[in-house]
Amino acid sequence: MKKRYNLAVVGATGAVGQEMLKVLEKSSLSVNKLRLLASKRSVGRSLKFKGSRFKVEELKKNSFSGIDIALFSIGASLSKKFSPLAAKSGAVVIDNSNAFRMDKNVPLVVPEVNPETIKKHRGIIANPNCSTIQLVVTLKPLYDAAGIERLVISTYQAVSGWGKEAVDELIGQSKSVLAGREAQVNKKILPHQIAFNLFPQIDIFLNNSYSKEEMKMVYETRKILEDNSLKITSTCVRVPVLISHSEAVNIQTKKKLTAQKARQILKKAPGIKVIDEPAKSKYPTPLLAEGKDFTYVGRIREDISHPRALNLWIVSDNLRKGAALNAVQIAEIL
Ligand SMILES: NC(=O)c1ccc[n+]([C@@H]2O[C@H](COP(=O)([O-])OP(=O)(O)OC[C@H]3O[C@@H](n4cnc5c(N)ncnc54)[C@H](OP(=O)(O)O)[C@@H]3O)[C@@H](O)[C@H]2O)c1
Repeated sequence: MKKRYNLAVVGATGAVGQEMLKVLEKSSLSVNKLRLLASKRSVGRSLKFKGSRFKVEELKKNSFSGIDIALFSIGASLSKKFSPLAAKSGAVVIDNSNAFRMDKNVPLVVPEVNPETIKKHRGIIANPNCSTIQLVVTLKPLYDAAGIERLVISTYQAVSGWGKEAVDELIGQSKSVLAGREAQVNKKILPHQIAFNLFPQIDIFLNNSYSKEEMKMVYETRKILEDNSLKITSTCVRVPVLISHSEAVNIQTKKKLTAQKARQILKKAPGIKVIDEPAKSKYPTPLLAEGKDFTYVGRIREDISHPRALNLWIVSDNLRKGAALNAVQIAEIL
């Protein structure tokens, strides 16, 4: 008989948590008991799953008894407190925050890239950052074919990557501006007006003048590809898009890889769809990727300034492959 699992979705009311429920509905995982956890503020709410409504409970130390798999999508400090408790009570935690990603005892997993690392877990498995996941899904087949020396990355990241409050900020500010009013900026959520604007800041700035998001891409990519010699530089930009991150990536390979060969390799790669007919204006866009499971790649071309480099445009739904779907894929492998 197919085994049925007791699942907890921690942060179920959040941007990622809500997507997690949608992905779980379609998953091959057979759910026995489902526990939805969030803050005290959400007690009294209920959320729909497979046609039934489930009550949201307050996250507490003893929330995990009998739970087999706990899918965490809350901030890093709360994850640091509650994930070890969940693991101690016997659950395997799949955590979306950055609390454990660089811990050498915690596998950092993208199923298309390094599924073999899942079995090394000691109770906690980390999901990478959304901008890293779509990048490594695309890099892995090219890395295997030609090796990679250096990456130059520029991102165009949707507001949903910063949670549900940032989504409300973009919508609210856009309505104000269109009604001829000034956009209200709540600096606790985003540092500047995002409606009809963009800014090169995601998360805080570090001592080396890079933002934390930029350095996450560097460290996480090296860990997942198991290559600390990989040279990476990144600029992360928040744009007024609701869902899906886009990335312009310059890849310097060790062996020459033509654009045609790269296209062939990517067309066969797991989790990727190539859309690359620029003459017909066909290339991936955030709206095209929204709600889909694939990482979309287009604008594949040889870099005219370097004999062994390619330029790529990579787009994926940050809430799905960038968070919820990746976590559920890990749970399915488990
Ligand atoms: N958004 C993305 O694209 C993305 C991608 C990858 C990883 N992540 C990571 O996933 C995590 C969640 O992100 P998100 O975008 O879903 O954020 P969000 O929309 O702000 O949701 C936060 C969730 O955490 C809950 N929460 C907040 N304070 C809590 C508390 N004291 N106790 C229990 N639950 C609490 C919230 O519950 P209430 O509704 O009750 O406040 C809500 O369910 C973050 O660590 C983020 O870095 C996000």
